[in-house]
Amino acid sequence: CGIVGYAGSVKTACGKPLEVCLQGLKRLEYRGYDSAGVALTAPGMGHVEVRKKAGRLANLVDDIEAHPMPDATVAIGHTRWATNGAPSDSNAHPHTSMDGKVAIIHNGIIENASQLRLDLQAEGYHFTSATDTEVAAKLLGKIVDIVIAEKGEPDLFEAIRRLARMLEGAFTILAVDERQPGIVVGARHDSPLVVGLGDGENFLGSDVAAFVAYTKRAMEVDQDQCVCISADDVTITDFFGNVVDNPVVFTVDWDASAAEKGGWDSFMDKEIHEDPAAVQRTLIGRMDDDGHINLDEVRIDEHELKSIDKIIVIGCGTASYAGMVAKYAIEHWVRIPVEIELAHEFRYRDPILTPRTLVVAISQSGETMDTLMALRHAREQGSKVLAICNTQGASIAREADAVLYTQAGPEVAVASTKAFVAQITAAYVLGLYLAQLKGAVYRDEIHSTLASLKDMPAKIQWVLDTQAAAIEQAARELADSKSFLFLGRHVGYPVAMEGALKLKEIAYTFTEGFAAGELKHGPIALVEPGEPVVFIVPPKRGRDVLHAKVISGIEEVKARGATIIAVAEENDPDVKRYADIVFWRPACPTLMSPLVDVVPLQLFAMDVAKQKGYDVDKPRNLAKSVTVE
Ligand code: G6P
Repeated sequence: CGIVGYAGSVKTACGKPLEVCLQGLKRLEYRGYDSAGVALTAPGMGHVEVRKKAGRLANLVDDIEAHPMPDATVAIGHTRWATNGAPSDSNAHPHTSMDGKVAIIHNGIIENASQLRLDLQAEGYHFTSATDTEVAAKLLGKIVDIVIAEKGEPDLFEAIRRLARMLEGAFTILAVDERQPGIVVGARHDSPLVVGLGDGENFLGSDVAAFVAYTKRAMEVDQDQCVCISADDVTITDFFGNVVDNPVVFTVDWDASAAEKGGWDSFMDKEIHEDPAAVQRTLIGRMDDDGHINLDEVRIDEHELKSIDKIIVIGCGTASYAGMVAKYAIEHWVRIPVEIELAHEFRYRDPILTPRTLVVAISQSGETMDTLMALRHAREQGSKVLAICNTQGASIAREADAVLYTQAGPEVAVASTKAFVAQITAAYVLGLYLAQLKGAVYRDEIHSTLASLKDMPAKIQWVLDTQAAAIEQAARELADSKSFLFLGRHVGYPVAMEGALKLKEIAYTFTEGFAAGELKHGPIALVEPGEPVVFIVPPKRGRDVLHAKVISGIEEVKARGATIIAVAEENDPDVKRYADIVFWRPACPTLMSPLVDVVPLQLFAMDVAKQKGYDVDKPRNLAKSVTVE
């Protein structure tokens, strides 16, 4: 879910609270788009005005245009990815207290909501929705009344702290109260929240994208903290009211325009075309001309890094496939074992972790709850965690011992594209850095590998410039196929997995990615005449044996009538002989090939989805940042 909050003054605010909320929600819509809603209030209004609608944000905007909302001083807005209760008008946020004077929005899952609901029902409270959020809203209303009775005046900040202490599970909650129309309060536990610092106005957001169009100064709200913003003030406390001195303030280095479509048809299209820049920017400042890697940002002591005897890479979805690529490269260069595991599996299987294990957590958003929980588990066991993350100030970046930021810029389309190539690039830089530290690779090899890495943006650009038409044509021909198989070996294997994931995510086509060597052990049974099978073909030079094996696989399925789509090096004669459709890539070393090979698969998935008339940026049922476990 996406959350935004705004506090201004009577002088400055007028329509701005609503405008900020709707703008912020537009930028956060990638976090969920099942429903959207806002609540606002102002001095003298006497109530909190709530408007919410099932479906995309556009439904809410249309409704507000048809029936305008009043001017306000404070507002909160929410875009929902349904976890608890179906996507409907009544389940949409904000939810209100019994008397309608308090409204809240919530991201996360409140695990003791059922019990709290029963307790409140026993006291005569009625519920109009199936959500855990409404339970929190009713409870907060009750607490506000208790605080008023105790203190003789309303104190929403105190009330939300008491609420936070009673809730179990994960939550970010923002609340407004018509009796205190100058403030928005928030609480966070295992769910993200950031403050935006303005001039005579302040902001809250699930991430900086919510307010970057208005301010680039941001303040961190940490785990188990509450925040109160007004036009001129921001106060952060723990759940017991102890004020946090000197909270961390940082400057957002994203340009607001980077999160705009800028003339592209879709964010996905734009972001695929930013693949070359994402790789290039992720390399900037991290190496000297003489082939020396500088990672000052890796704050883990060099001696500790040198003593690392195992690396475990964790992530989910696309990030996990970047991690699989990292395994091949890091093991090759550093010569220490690298395991890759889905974060949710890792966390709950009691993994073997020691202080000499380095855990590398890969996450674009830096907020994926599965990855965050795995990171915490690793740190509790005494292992060091290094995050590869794309979002400044995100929870995973903050809680890790060190962070290597990917410089892909904001990624808005739900299906990850440029972040994937940036993650691979960052993992390569890390691998080469560790190799340099350990003296595991000859200086020359680091030097030549870095030179190859530097060449990759131009090679990706070549694919974008020369292959787009062939890919679009292939998408037209194959859009109606019921299923696709994707096969690759070595680093082509994770690329096959990622290609399969992209197509299933946005074109809703059944796909499976396999290691090409597994073909004869099962998947070949699925091959019937006309079945499209995508092969990632390794370069013929270097690891020649890999190439020959993949070509054998192509021959085997070709013999059974499959339609062969190959991603292969320019002019590969074997591929020319067997493949029905080829997406060419320029020559590059095997370890670098994922950076180019994934690009045609990203374009292909997008083109197939467009052929089928789907919204490529917001595929059904998905959210970009899954902040629940
Ligand atoms: C969700 C998204 C995927 C993404 C995964 C991990 O499932 O739909 O596109 O790869 O989360 O996200 P992260 O932000 O941790 O990289």
